Amino acid sequence: MNKIWIGTNWKMTKTIAEGVAFTKELRSISEAIPSSIQLFIIPSHTALVPIKELTTETDMYLGAQNMHWEDSGAYTGEISPRMLAEIGIDLIELGHSERRQYFNETDVAINKKVHAALNYSIKPLICIGENLDQKEQLISKETLAAQLKVCLQGLSKEMAKEILIAYEPVWAIGDQGVPADAAYVADIHHFLRSTLVELFEEVGLTIPLLYGGSVNQENFLEYSKLENVNGLFIGRAAWDIESFQKILYTLEAKLGV
Ligand code: PGA
Repeated sequence: MNKIWIGTNWKMTKTIAEGVAFTKELRSISEAIPSSIQLFIIPSHTALVPIKELTTETDMYLGAQNMHWEDSGAYTGEISPRMLAEIGIDLIELGHSERRQYFNETDVAINKKVHAALNYSIKPLICIGENLDQKEQLISKETLAAQLKVCLQGLSKEMAKEILIAYEPVWAIGDQGVPADAAYVADIHHFLRSTLVELFEEVGLTIPLLYGGSVNQENFLEYSKLENVNGLFIGRAAWDIESFQKILYTLEAKLGV
């Protein structure tokens, strides 16, 4: 597994104009970095169509932040996999902790969305993470194993080849988040890798495991060097193009990727 996945979810921040301007700059940066860095961006739904036009001729992957599992129906305010497939997105982010926390998204619902995405050849990027209570109660691994097992229920090995997992401890995300120690991340990623192998045997070794949660200029290199970290899922530190560029260029220089 040589590719390193580096990407950002813009959450509810950039407008269409801001997203388009950012993507144009990122497109020129992407031409200067090696193909072993698999870049991806996850804009708001409103910006997907114009941004798709900008990423079509590039290696950059385009993702959406959420979707329903049904193809169509009476679900006001939702967007379906059929609609996203029409735009031509590559990835769908599922189960971000903000969706779980503010919109009551459950592992069972995420599992339905994973199947729906695969049905349309959209790669699910499934986010899991323990909250502070669970960490303090020393049930991080139990929590993560349960999230993984329910989110991935019913997937064959063939289907598992198409998924990505992002480990994002809830206590490390956002303005109030505390960056995790690299040793903690290493231990959890090792555990997640063995759980994936338990579920999918040899295919479990190939599923990209990304890390996210207050990844920034100070810590990204340390995380990226860990054995079972195959990518970084970056929020705030990648929303400013100069900051993101610095991370990408430093990665290239330091890792020789
Ligand atoms: P952050 O966001 O890097 O701003 O903590 C990470 C995420 O929510 O994916």
